[in-house]
Amino acid sequence: MQAADRQRFAAVSMMIDDRLAELIRRRPRTLVLTGAGLSAESGIPTFRDAQTGLWSRYSPAELASPEAFEADPERVLDWYDWRRELIARSRPNAGHTAVKRLLDALPGARLVTQNVDGLHQLAGARDAIELHGNIWRLRCAAPGCRHERYWSDRTAPAPRSCPDCGKILRPGVVWFGESLPAQALASAWQLAEVAEFVIVAGTSGLVHPAAALPFHALEQGARVVEINPDRTALSQAAHWHLACSSGTALPALADLLDAP
Ligand code: OAD
Repeated sequence: MQAADRQRFAAVSMMIDDRLAELIRRRPRTLVLTGAGLSAESGIPTFRDAQTGLWSRYSPAELASPEAFEADPERVLDWYDWRRELIARSRPNAGHTAVKRLLDALPGARLVTQNVDGLHQLAGARDAIELHGNIWRLRCAAPGCRHERYWSDRTAPAPRSCPDCGKILRPGVVWFGESLPAQALASAWQLAEVAEFVIVAGTSGLVHPAAALPFHALEQGARVVEINPDRTALSQAAHWHLACSSGTALPALADLLDAP
């Protein structure tokens, strides 16, 4: 371990109090909820960070809405090609690896993510519930055509026309103004209902309904830890707020399960 890493690790270890350590070691039924901050250390910009966030440079309404796609599909698809290129060059980071370790070590633990980049799955996370879809999935935009495919070739831009009907393909992500996939949302809600422990990492908590999940779990009596260098609307309500990066805090939590 490098000196800087050692220092960061010592700092986060001090934030993990005995109550949190004991809770994790009891292996509670756990829900992990992640957002764009988790992939920030893989080099993928978040949406809302002031200098680097995507929405500081681009307007959601112009790029991530059905209206934008209707008005200028090429512009929207070019932007998604650029994002896929960026993701294809990225690797899962220590936070993604730690989530996989937590899922493996905590019986019945499940991951709900708002991220569309697929890095959790690349790190080996099983059964991730993707609330906002996946950028590597493509589906036909034509009403009535059900063509859908997974585009796994990370070296070439995604195809643009539907092999079934010839109309335009769109990314399989949720845009502003669209509904979340019903099954994914129902599963996430159910998991929040029964969770004893919720880890919320790397999300601003500004986009609903995902933002409501930790509050719902709190109402049902779950313990909640938030991992985010910044404070959010959840910070006050959560039992713990670890004010550091997910790449530091999540491995520290996972390490608690290795300790004898
Ligand atoms: P945001 O960009 O809104 O928030 C990212 C959060 O991650 C911020 O609160 C940062 O402080 C925090 N953060 C940054 N670096 C971090 C790090 N290394 N470790 C931990 N936290 C860090 O992203 P989301 O909350 O995921 O939706 O945004 C939710 C949704 O809004 C996205 O899924 C997307 C967007 O519009 C759709 O596209 C439908």
